[in-house]
Amino acid sequence: MANKFYITTPIYYVNASPHIGHSYTNIAADTLARYHRKILGGDNVWFLTGTDEHGQKIQKAADELKLSAGEFVDRMVLQFKDLWKKLDISNDDFIRTTEDRHISAVQKALQIVYEKGDIYEDKYEGSYCTPCETFWPQSQVTGNLCPDCKRELEQISETNFFFKLSKYQDWLIKHIRDNPSFIKPESRRNEVLSFLLLNKLEPLCISRPKERLSWGIPLPFSQKHVTYVWFDALINYISAVGQFDAQNIYRSAWWDKDVRVVHLVGKDILRHHAIYWPIMLKALEIRQPDTIFAHGWWMINENKMSKSRGNVVNPVEMVDKFGIDVYRYFLLRDVPFGLDGSFSEEAIIKRFNGDLANDLGNLIYRTLTMIEKYYSGLIPELDIYKTKYDASGEHIKEKIKNLRQEVSALLSLNNDFSLALEKIWECIGITNKYVEETKPWNLVKEARAEELKAFIRLLVDAIRKISEEIFAFMPKTAEAIFQQLGGKEIMKGNPLFPRIETKKK
Ligand code: MSP
Repeated sequence: MANKFYITTPIYYVNASPHIGHSYTNIAADTLARYHRKILGGDNVWFLTGTDEHGQKIQKAADELKLSAGEFVDRMVLQFKDLWKKLDISNDDFIRTTEDRHISAVQKALQIVYEKGDIYEDKYEGSYCTPCETFWPQSQVTGNLCPDCKRELEQISETNFFFKLSKYQDWLIKHIRDNPSFIKPESRRNEVLSFLLLNKLEPLCISRPKERLSWGIPLPFSQKHVTYVWFDALINYISAVGQFDAQNIYRSAWWDKDVRVVHLVGKDILRHHAIYWPIMLKALEIRQPDTIFAHGWWMINENKMSKSRGNVVNPVEMVDKFGIDVYRYFLLRDVPFGLDGSFSEEAIIKRFNGDLANDLGNLIYRTLTMIEKYYSGLIPELDIYKTKYDASGEHIKEKIKNLRQEVSALLSLNNDFSLALEKIWECIGITNKYVEETKPWNLVKEARAEELKAFIRLLVDAIRKISEEIFAFMPKTAEAIFQQLGGKEIMKGNPLFPRIETKKK
């Protein structure tokens, strides 16, 4: 029986154009979605991404362009949709927080929590960081600077609505303890747990007065307030699949008990996902996600990417320069998911020339060349598992036979894309080495026809296996390999990854 797998990415703020950091999560989620759909016995997959379109950041960006917020988000969302198309992202749905289906779900959720008595009205006086849209208790502030972004804090005094997070604190601690896969990686889980053990959760302010910010979802129980952007945004994971949708036009079955739900997020938004979100769900009395996985950040020469530093990398440029699959491969291979990485074109070129041109490309091209030369392009028929090979040949047989299991385990347990690719590349490595050891040209010279046939066929089977595993990471490459080597006769084209020559400085 196929399993049900629901995978989400964060919904991105549309105040600025998407950059490589945003594309990272979508490529990772896409790889998992493809792997589950195609490889793991045709799992039933729902893959959601979208955009976060309310709040101060967006209003400010719209004001700067002298557009209404509505016009502005309608314009910006296209950049995200276009990018996902360009990157071969196979999302099943795209949610915008300005859609009716989302707005009504947020209001319904607020109403439920309010009626339960978990939301109360209160006056707030204290520090507020406008860019981060966060209230800071005096105990966490030094020198009137935002503890997160280090910008100047404002002093405000206003009436707002607050969500009693601490009511659910003990429950959350227990939930995290009882479910080792709830927050991943392990280091992040420990971080969240110790935060919860050492601090009493402050009430979360879930409203903003309309007079200060009108671009938000109106609170159903107050004319004077809109919803805080994070309470609004987190609900996307359930509004998109029809939770609280009376007509049930969407697919509410994706938030059912029998679904494996995985949220991929960046490390900076882990607290929102691992503390606010579970508590919101608990208050709403609906199921929890199975896993919240926090990945690391891509840095540029050890710096954060930012407009003010002028070092923001545009994914469209990278794809135009190197190709979709090379870009996807680099992001997933170069750094273990969970850790920070250093992004540079030199690093991409290094991976390209090494792993893609020298290893994978070379293996395919030399195999195609031999089949063309020795068999006029027809792939020899032979069952490698009924054929006896020397030690290296047997080793390859064994490795490719176990590859599927190895890759699936790495992906399903820890989203370990990098190690999974390493395992696939080990197979490529030993197969290339086998060609060098066997010296097929000698087999030809000595007319050892049976050995040559068995040898070539092993290469073909190894490549086919390897390309099946590569598929989820690099869909176009797998397709190209299938074109070349998938039938009875080869279709030799140009090398898939011609080396990039770099000028010596
Ligand atoms: N709108 C919120 C998320 C709401 S989810 C219910 C948000 N948006 S964001 O556009 O600012 O960031 C979205 C994601 O991009 C976050 O997961 C963040 O970690 C990620 N990244 C932003 N910069 C990044 C890098 N430099 N590297 C990797 N990921 C980065 O937060």
